[in-house]
Amino acid sequence: MKVLPTSTCFKNLYRQFHVQFTSGQYGEREGKYICIEQVGVISTWESTFTGVLTSKMIQQPEKEVINVNERLHLQDPAPLYDRLLKRGPFFNGTHWILTRHAHVNALLRNQAPSKRTGNEPLANSLRKNILFKDPPDHTRHRAAAQEFFSPRSMLLEEETITEVATRLIASVKEKRRMEFISEFASRLPVAIVADYLGVPEDKHDFLFGFARQFIFEFSNDPEMSDRGVSELRSYFTLNIDEFMRKASPGKLLEKLAEGHRNGMLAKEELIEMCVFLFAAGSETSGCLLGSGLLTLLQHPESLEAIRNNPNLIPNAIEEMLRYESPVPMTTMRSTTEPMEIDGLVIPEGRPVIGILAAANRDPEKFPNPGVFDIHRNTTGHFSFGGGIHYCLGASLVRLEAKVTFRILFEQLPDLRLDNGHLPGRWLRSMSGSNKGFAFHWRERVPTRGLEYLNLKW
Ligand code: HEM
Repeated sequence: MKVLPTSTCFKNLYRQFHVQFTSGQYGEREGKYICIEQVGVISTWESTFTGVLTSKMIQQPEKEVINVNERLHLQDPAPLYDRLLKRGPFFNGTHWILTRHAHVNALLRNQAPSKRTGNEPLANSLRKNILFKDPPDHTRHRAAAQEFFSPRSMLLEEETITEVATRLIASVKEKRRMEFISEFASRLPVAIVADYLGVPEDKHDFLFGFARQFIFEFSNDPEMSDRGVSELRSYFTLNIDEFMRKASPGKLLEKLAEGHRNGMLAKEELIEMCVFLFAAGSETSGCLLGSGLLTLLQHPESLEAIRNNPNLIPNAIEEMLRYESPVPMTTMRSTTEPMEIDGLVIPEGRPVIGILAAANRDPEKFPNPGVFDIHRNTTGHFSFGGGIHYCLGASLVRLEAKVTFRILFEQLPDLRLDNGHLPGRWLRSMSGSNKGFAFHWRERVPTRGLEYLNLKW
């Protein structure tokens, strides 16, 4: 263990050894290195050096804690987003981070940055799917599925979604209580996307487990995450021929199979599409249903307005997406040429991430961003990303949410939070301070959703 003598020495070490920050995080802006966390243990990639860094060693004007995984931020990320917005673009030691609406917009609309990822196992695995492809491959993959997800085609899906939602509510109605995430918000999107891909009902939970493993471990444990993808891939590889044979006309799988038959998608690419669509379509929508409902229950005047006038639901859903963005940040893009953001030049070959949830709370774009206002103009929120990688499932999600809120408030007019009840499994796993709460935010990234939401009526 060696203690760094001065900030200058630290800067030199950073340049020389590519210091990897294990607990402190540091930023680079306008050529200067700035300290954003006061105390941290640092170590080099080469393990030739470790040191304890104290506030004495670097005297910098800007100091800010920015550990996005901290419990505090995950339960209430709004103050963190405020601080990030004030800072503007910065380098966090591994990635350039953009937070302001105009900056995130510039990133999403710019087609030059690449989605190519590194060589680690998860990256190799991800490279096969649409979200991590660049044109022209990306264009080809997207074309195979786009027609099915168009807002017009989605109108035909309302009946199926209504059937599933009605069945799920009927199964709990008499109980007068439910844990909304496990009994509804996760079940509805899984049932819908599984039906589109031909997955039989007795395999829904099995596959959803792997989809969650893929997404939850994405930034924590890449190997574990990759195992989730591999399981999904094996399942579809084994069953795809049968699913294609049985595919209902006009459904997603039939469109993808058609793409395969006319040479647009190779078999392996078709399987990757199924894997990714299953994972993306099952996990994120549940986050919106849970956080959207919670937000409404916490804003009784908005809930009342919607009950009196269900035509307000579509704009309320956009506001839910802005206010509690289920996918808080973009996946990584890599600059292929120097990229200028507001006078700051990010050099070629650098990883860049846009914080969508922060951009959605940029006061320059959305006045009083901390206010949940179902009447506000939400045009331009980035919850579904933007540019060529704009979420393919956006119309489906909007429809799932519209049907859910309509049916919930029709069928359960007295719906409210249940503070006095928790399912046994949560009581076992929770610290005493949480007991009895009606809801708890998940302490996992990269999606933002509720661990549980207890309701009664
Ligand atoms: C609330 C629910 C959802 C949210 C917030 C969401 C958000 C996003 C975002 C932010 C991106 C772009 C990420 C980036 O540019 O790095 C994206 C891409 C994508 N999403 Fe979603 N998503 C949701 C649900 C769905 C559903 C239900 C499906 C399909 C069934 C889906 C399929 C996709 C696909 C295929 C892409 C990649 C598009 C491309 O690369 O061209 N998503 N989503």
